[in-house]
Amino acid sequence: MITQLLLTENKQAMFRKIKILLLITIISHGLTARDGMWIPVLLEKYNIGEMQSLGFKLSAQDVYSINKASMKDAVLMFGSGCTGELISGKGLLVTNHHCGYSVIQSHSSINNDYLTNGFWAMSSADELVNPTLKVTFLKRMEDVTLQVLAGVNPNMSVAERKTVINKNIKHTVEKAVQGTHYSASVEPFYYGNQYFLFVNEVFNDVRLVGAPPSAIGKFGGDTDNWMWPRHTGDFSLFRIYAGKDNKPAPYSPDNVPYKSPVHFPVSLKGVQEGDFTMVFGYPGSTNQYVVSHHIKMLLNSVYPGLVELRTAKLNAMNAFMESDPAVRIKYASKNASLANSWKRWKGEINGLNKLNVLKLKQQYEQEFLEWINESEERKNQMGNLLADFENYYTEYAIYRKVRDYLLEFIGRAGVESARLAGSFEKLAVMYNSEKLNEEDITKEKARLKNEIKLMFKDYHKPIDMEIAKVSLEHFKRNVPGGFLPTVYSHIDTKFNGEINRFVTHYFNKSAFTNENSANSFLNDTSARAMEKLENDPAYILFNSFRNIYYEEINPRFQVLQNKIDSLNLIYMAGRMQFEPQKVFYPDANSTLRVSYGQVQGYEATDGIYFKYFSTLEGIIEKDNPDIYDYRVPEKLKELHKAKDYGRYGVNGTVPVCFIANNHTTGGNSGSPVINGRGELIGINFDRAWEGVMSDLMFNPEQSRNISLDIRYVLFIIDKFAGAGYLLDEMTLVN
Ligand code: ARG
Ligand code: GLU
Repeated sequence: MITQLLLTENKQAMFRKIKILLLITIISHGLTARDGMWIPVLLEKYNIGEMQSLGFKLSAQDVYSINKASMKDAVLMFGSGCTGELISGKGLLVTNHHCGYSVIQSHSSINNDYLTNGFWAMSSADELVNPTLKVTFLKRMEDVTLQVLAGVNPNMSVAERKTVINKNIKHTVEKAVQGTHYSASVEPFYYGNQYFLFVNEVFNDVRLVGAPPSAIGKFGGDTDNWMWPRHTGDFSLFRIYAGKDNKPAPYSPDNVPYKSPVHFPVSLKGVQEGDFTMVFGYPGSTNQYVVSHHIKMLLNSVYPGLVELRTAKLNAMNAFMESDPAVRIKYASKNASLANSWKRWKGEINGLNKLNVLKLKQQYEQEFLEWINESEERKNQMGNLLADFENYYTEYAIYRKVRDYLLEFIGRAGVESARLAGSFEKLAVMYNSEKLNEEDITKEKARLKNEIKLMFKDYHKPIDMEIAKVSLEHFKRNVPGGFLPTVYSHIDTKFNGEINRFVTHYFNKSAFTNENSANSFLNDTSARAMEKLENDPAYILFNSFRNIYYEEINPRFQVLQNKIDSLNLIYMAGRMQFEPQKVFYPDANSTLRVSYGQVQGYEATDGIYFKYFSTLEGIIEKDNPDIYDYRVPEKLKELHKAKDYGRYGVNGTVPVCFIANNHTTGGNSGSPVINGRGELIGINFDRAWEGVMSDLMFNPEQSRNISLDIRYVLFIIDKFAGAGYLLDEMTLVN
């Protein structure tokens, strides 16, 4: 009898295992899956075997080591959102054109238009200084889970847990940097099931060395963005400077090029389908382990509205940019960043639906729940987990949507004059306080003066006005009535509910839509001026959005976010028990990671197979003087005509981009793409349209990262720009 029972139980367990295996296979589409953004210090343990079987010839220590110079010493975080890599011993680094874009733009004007014409420093004296740019190298990382969780117990409330953890983190960081010039941080992994310490070295003197014209560096523009086949020469060059002791130093003309312990050799050999590739960089954020409710929220309430709003904003910009080159320069960078997520969201919606991610997640959760219910202990620990998720997501989805919309107003891509007015608040508070602190006021005024200058350098009033109008209309249409900021009742009472009339009044009357009036406002020190601020329509608008954001929406959103995070902490640990045989990779969190895989084409839609590489021929085919994104520079056409390709030519053309199945995301832009011998073969810059939902679920059939072939980079520097001297400091290998 007992044996009988046991047998049945065993059988059940076996069936369950088979079902799980099947499900996992469905989710990961078979064993060729190479998804994952792996932790450098753990390659030895989890990945090196597979990497080597795919064609990697080096060791885990060659990638990351603290005992000797390793590849990681040549990889850097560029600014705060991209990756770059060293390609010479004299601090020369390469990243994407779109990563250097705002810097290049900041040095550009109609007379000195580096966006249009490109820029090449012919000597170190020509290199351009960038006061706000920094690059960060990882010195070491370490699992500090035990230190961070010391004193934490399962009965603690979320808040108590947080307090203990934060204290431990502070202590760990302080200890790590003591007596050094390094900085450090501790980051949670797997929703706080694990913690790592990162010790960094930050350089602040980073100068622009070279950039191709946008007609190369941004060729295809937003038309081709997120798409394959691609022909974008998306690179720019910078140089890191250090003090005489080779340590970070603020900008000084006496600084010298940074001497790095290693840099990447540059391969002239190119890639073939099936070759091993590895991407080493700083992926920003992914959500691989979210529950189905999260997907439902994105598909139903978040993405569609954001796409619609941004479409309207982009239309407002495009109309004016097309007819005026000066406006085009001013709005180039703002337009590109708005358009980028706008297009990705659209791709994600398609990809999530096509892969049926919602259903796959629901099935997985069903299996997970059955597994929980098989054991009393698990039922006690996690019996309510999935139901709790569902509950919290109902409310969370509303707050997430409203919050995202509000950020479209008060964030960078919002109504610029309103934002400027809003930033006068601090000054107003200073004036209104009992005791005037002249020193603080002077400082704050200097800050505002600078902000005014920066904003109006790239400002076009008609665009701002149109954006104000469409944003206000859209917000009202899409956000539940209870969440409308007070400006709408102001519009109701004073303007008969007509948004148009309010906006016209705003742009006639506000002091913040014009540089002179904004400055004279700043210079008017009377208390009356601050009263004027309160009555300025720009300020009324901004303040009402800001208030509802900070007072109502964001606080509640954070409470719900914390709640969901604490459920995720349990869910993640549960999943690891549920699939003990699987190695889970952590979500991206802007820390250094390794993705690896192979060069590979893909089937885009039924009947269309995409090859793994593109060439100069495709650029010439796309050439069209009537389409801004497809205007090929004359010089490039001449080189093509004369087939003047030098050593970069292959089969009568020049390779331009290639794709592979490395798992990457935003932040991986500019990352080195490395072959089996550890040489640089490309620069990562994008992903292909059909697979961009890989932030939520990777599809091995269609998720592809897009890289610039390094031979095209060399060709452009050497043959196109005539800056071949830069190649002299690189290590070119065959
Ligand atoms: N899609 C790439 C990334 O996410 C490139 C973006 C810049 N290019 C552009 N056309 N907006 O950053
Ligand atoms: N272009 C992206 C970036 O700036 C990389 C593309 C992606 O999201 O994978 O990081």
